[in-house]
Amino acid sequence: MNAQEMLTLKETALAEAGAAAGVVDLEAVRVRYLGRNGLLPKIMKGLKEVDPAERADVGQAANALKQELGSLLDARRAALAAAAAAKAPAAFDYSLPGRWRPPGSMHPISMVIADVARIFGRLGFTVADGPDVETRYHNFEALNTPEHHPSLDAQDTFWLETGELLRTQTSPVQIRVMERSQPPVRIITPGRCYRRDKTDATHSANFHQVEGLYVDRDVSMADLKGVLAYFAREMMGPGVGVRFRPHFFPFTEPSVECDFSCHVCGGKGCRVCKHSGWIEIAGAGMVDPRVFSKVGYDAEALTGYAFGMGVERIAMIKYGVGDIRLFYENDARFLEQFA
Ligand code: DAH
Repeated sequence: MNAQEMLTLKETALAEAGAAAGVVDLEAVRVRYLGRNGLLPKIMKGLKEVDPAERADVGQAANALKQELGSLLDARRAALAAAAAAKAPAAFDYSLPGRWRPPGSMHPISMVIADVARIFGRLGFTVADGPDVETRYHNFEALNTPEHHPSLDAQDTFWLETGELLRTQTSPVQIRVMERSQPPVRIITPGRCYRRDKTDATHSANFHQVEGLYVDRDVSMADLKGVLAYFAREMMGPGVGVRFRPHFFPFTEPSVECDFSCHVCGGKGCRVCKHSGWIEIAGAGMVDPRVFSKVGYDAEALTGYAFGMGVERIAMIKYGVGDIRLFYENDARFLEQFA
């Protein structure tokens, strides 16, 4: 290496640094000249072999080039970063309007369940819960439902391989509550029920019920009628009509069905009430003494009433919904109306 070669090296190095188009190129130039095994350290190490007359000049030139190339590379790097920043959009524009997430609202089925709990809460009923996967015993046997009852048929019930089933009604929670507590009992229990129904405008394989149970001494059918009539008025408004029809359920004696006058047509008759002016809302009755015996209650001393109502039914007449499927489709255009 002599002074002349140093001069050429300087020109090439500075030209390369100036021509580098991006940070990757800049880094390559830095490594080639200034890196640990780069050209300039090599020249410094090889100074001994340089002609003594030129040694000082070559050494000085190499040092000066090291400085100059270093600053040039730094400056180029800063310039490239500034150019990139100028081109990129601002990371955050504070003047933009915020992103608006519309607030959600309660599902109409949840709204009805909350209303039922609130109304019965005022009468001293508390909310109890039970499993969706039930035993045959709790769903049928303890409820005095005979072996040959059609609801035990695989046509009507979702049986699981374990021998358990998806509960067909919320009534098994009556049994569970009585098994674990002593009278007086005053509970409602809302929840999902499952039946192998073909889906249409009024049927769904999955639907909701609210069960009620009141057990004490001297509970009468008049209490049941009074409570359901009170509930109807609170839920539907003071103009609602309530009627009771004799019926049969295995776990109540006597049993009734309870109808509300149709809220959609005011009782005149329409498509929703199938032109009868009435809609069946609940099954109910006085708890059969055989059910008390199953849970170890004193069937001589105690009386009680029970009822089970269809939540979708109530929601349909309360909000004038003509098709049960609308509740499960998660269509925001439908659900939004309940916000
Ligand atoms: N579990 C009955 C059903 O799903 C409804 C019912 C009737 C519930 C009478 C009751 C009752 O508690 O006492 O059809």
